Amino acid sequence: MVRLSTLSALLSGLGAFANPVHVKRASLQQITNSGISNPTNVGFYMYVPDKLAAKPGVVVAVHYCTGTAQAYYSGSPYATLAEQYGFVVIYPSSPHSGTCWDVSSKASLTHNGGGDSNAIANMVKWAITKYNADTSKVFVTGTSSGAMMTNVLAATYPELFKAAIAYSGVPAGCFVSSSGGVDAWNSTCAQGNSIASPEAWANVVKNMDPGYTGARPKMQIYHGAADTTLLPNNYNETIKQWSGVFGYNYQAPTTTEHNVPQTNYHRYTFGPNLQGIYAIGVGHSVPVQGAEDMKFFGFSGSSATPSSPATPGTTTPAAPAASTPASGGNGGVAQKYEQCGGIGWTGPTTCAAGSTCKKANDWYSQCL
Ligand SMILES: *[C@@H]1O[C@H](CO)[C@@H](O)[C@H](O)[C@H]1NC(C)=O
Ligand SMILES: *[C@@H]1O[C@H](CO)[C@@H](O)[C@H](O)[C@H]1NC(C)=O
Repeated sequence: MVRLSTLSALLSGLGAFANPVHVKRASLQQITNSGISNPTNVGFYMYVPDKLAAKPGVVVAVHYCTGTAQAYYSGSPYATLAEQYGFVVIYPSSPHSGTCWDVSSKASLTHNGGGDSNAIANMVKWAITKYNADTSKVFVTGTSSGAMMTNVLAATYPELFKAAIAYSGVPAGCFVSSSGGVDAWNSTCAQGNSIASPEAWANVVKNMDPGYTGARPKMQIYHGAADTTLLPNNYNETIKQWSGVFGYNYQAPTTTEHNVPQTNYHRYTFGPNLQGIYAIGVGHSVPVQGAEDMKFFGFSGSSATPSSPATPGTTTPAAPAASTPASGGNGGVAQKYEQCGGIGWTGPTTCAAGSTCKKANDWYSQCL
């Protein structure tokens, strides 16, 4: 007769062997049996390239409001770039209705606080172990709400990420909800009215992981000067925030480059750990600059044996983006990915042919 305790020991032993999570290569895969702690039930998706590097990098790519892991996978260039440089991509998928990220609750704005940021950090740690990743190549990027989360992840998990690129977001902590709301919209911040000194913004970052004294990720901040969803002042305040963190003078860039990386984009370097790219005439959001991202992350020009370069023409179009600013007032038509409604919205509410206006929350609808 088998004693129960022996049987359960046997079963748990078997479990340890029977659970080598298999992630199929070269397609978007949902990871359902990772065993990580996932306090807010964030969707866990990955792209593992065919040409996986021996010690791969890890890139977290965070979608926008109304987006999903699937939408950001097909609408951004990271999977294509993963095949080229051998890194794995984590695409988290928001669990909230409207699929914005929770960048407002104390839980998400705190290291190991049990919010969305915590769930994503746990995915990163899992991927590092599973793929024997190079921890000096762990990066995060995102668009809009995903850019807000990018700043939050850089602030809450500074030990994990080496660099971060935010496309059209707000400073870390700017969307905080005074009443502790989860996944709350903050109009004061969105409209560019949350103004603070570099020191005050830096303290917001430091208080998300109190006592941390180690290195922090280097930051690249993109914003469109014609952004009517997250007003351009959020660019200036984000630059102030990270200048405060790194001890740079936000009013005196060390280098200013005009029409870099493209016409009407202006790149300001404030020190080795901070660059801002302000895009004149560009609305919400700035299109993902895949090749530039690879340079900032240190993949391009690196010795990581890249496979054959991506076939020209197969690169997925950069999205969710609209380089045409929304034409304010009635009668205008919002292009795909532009805002088309929400409280206080005075821009166009009609979407260009081929896209429809989809509500993310009371403050934000987008043409998709
Ligand atoms: C919005 O965020 C600001 C900081 O950016 C904060 O001071 C304010 O209390 C927040 N508003 C609400 C309604 O929570
Ligand atoms: C924000 O920064 C940009 C780029 O340096 C600058 O052109 C703009 O005047 C600044 N806006 C404010 C309100 O300081």
